[in-house]
Order: sequence, then C-alpha cells, then structure tokens
Amino acid sequence: MPEYRIEATGATLGAVVTGGRLADLDEAGFELLLDAFHEHALLIFPDQHLEPEQQVAFARRFGEIEHLYGDSGVVPISNQRHDGSLLDDDNPAMQIMIGNEGWHTDSSYMSLAAKASVLSAQVVPGRGGQTEWADMRAAYEALDEETRERIAVLSARHSLRHSQAKIGHTDPGAMLYGFEGGDPPLRPLVKLHPVTGRPSLFIGRHAYGIPGLSSEASESLLAGLLDFACRPPRIWRHDWQPGDLVIWDNRCLLHRARPYDHTEPRVMRHTRIAGDEATEWAPGLADTA
Ligand code: OGA
Ligand code: MN
Repeated sequence: MPEYRIEATGATLGAVVTGGRLADLDEAGFELLLDAFHEHALLIFPDQHLEPEQQVAFARRFGEIEHLYGDSGVVPISNQRHDGSLLDDDNPAMQIMIGNEGWHTDSSYMSLAAKASVLSAQVVPGRGGQTEWADMRAAYEALDEETRERIAVLSARHSLRHSQAKIGHTDPGAMLYGFEGGDPPLRPLVKLHPVTGRPSLFIGRHAYGIPGLSSEASESLLAGLLDFACRPPRIWRHDWQPGDLVIWDNRCLLHRARPYDHTEPRVMRHTRIAGDEATEWAPGLADTA
C-alpha cells in the first residue's frame, strides 16, 4: 500500500495528502482517507491528473453520485466551450459559477443535500480563481452560549432561485442546474454530523426565510452568523495547479470560488456525492404544511 502522507493545514479544517495515486486506491488506502476525511473535512490531493472516469470512481467510494447534468457524473465548472471560446458573464452557466463566489453548501436547496463534493483543476487562470472552504464545526464551537441556544430551535429554507435572484440572476435557464422546482426545503441551522456527531452551523447563501422571524430579522441573523463563521482560523484557501483534486464534506463546510479575469479560461471538473437519505433529506414546505 502506498504511504499516504496526511498533513493538516494548520487551520481548523483541511489536510494535504501526498504520496499516493488515487487512480490506484485500494481498500486499505480508502479506509485511511475516509478517517482523514471525517477528521479534516477537506482533503487536498496535489498533482493527481485523474481522467473523468477515475474521478467518478474515486467519488463513488464515498457514496452514490448525484447526477446533476447528464450521466457522466462529471459536471464541467468551466467558462470555456469545447471550441475554445469563452462564455459571457450573462450566460446562464456563467451566472451559476458567479453565484459560486458566495459562501455556500452544495445541493442544500434540493430535498437531498449533498454529502460531499469532488473538484479537480484542468486549466487555471494566471491570477485568482482559487477555492476557499470554511469550517462550520469550528464556527459553531466558537459561538457564545446565548447564540447557540437561540439558533438551536431555528431552521431556514434553502433555495437556489432565491440565492441567484439576490445577486441579480433571474434567468430561468440558470435554474436547470440541480433545481427541482419544488418548495424550498427547510433545514435546521445546527446540523449534527451523522458520522462524527459534531454539531455545525448549516447556513450559506442558499439559506433564507427562518420561520418565526421577519425576513429582515432572518436576513440579519444569517448574515451575522456567516460573517462570524467565515474567518481565520476557520478558513482555508487552495491555489490550484492543473491536476489537483480535492474532496470536501458538504455537511460541515461552506465553500466559495474566488473571482478571476473571465477573459482567461478556468476549467474544473466537479463530481457531487449524494447525501444519505436517513440524514440529509429535508421536507419541502408543502410537505410540512
Ligand atoms: C462547485 C463550486 C467552486 C470553484 O463546483 O460547487 O462551488 O472554485 N466550485 O469552482
Ligand atoms: Mn459549490
């Protein structure tokens, strides 16, 4: 078995893993990585250069693949078409990628929120275009007791339509990506991790409309929590090199893309791992009425 070296980043989340080829991952190697995934919530594997099928096979170890976009299991996160031309900022796919620049969880707007996400880099811009993650376990732990008690009984709706509209993107074409069209699910603000049992804040740009609060009070509470949560030492930024691959635990981290010059190509591959129904399913509003 290759000797994976797992080095914690020094922030409250994340580890860099070197010394093994994910394309050759065996069961013993996977068990090691799974433990590290639960501990660090973000694993960064430099220089892996996986083919799309190898990326899906790696992701598949962690659970079922969420099919957002065709059957391949790989979603292009890219501003470049196959013919090399670049997308305009008002392109619906580009609107979703610009939306990714706000702190978010993947698929929290679906009934079944994602368990984890894999992202790898093919082409990276000269400047910017990094990805950042924020540790919602450490954020919860850092809250004062009064806030913890206040939020313990609260839930928020999660909607992609809402988060996109908030940044001025209302093109219905952009809503095709992972949009069910049903009522926004209602999710508790404090989530217990199904494996580690650790509580974390479950917030981000898709969250809004806390039942029992005015929309202003809800907005202000969620914005305040987000601002408090996404600060050092609870954040980690990765500067991509082509061939790097990361996996993160969507149940306890937020993430966001950093801006870059859209006249340069940025080509990434995303594979999303579906949540387990027993722990990640949340009813839509109609189901709870
Ligand atoms: C995503 C995402 C961030 C990035 O693919 O879900 O948020 O840096 N990507 O591209
Ligand atoms: Mn995302």
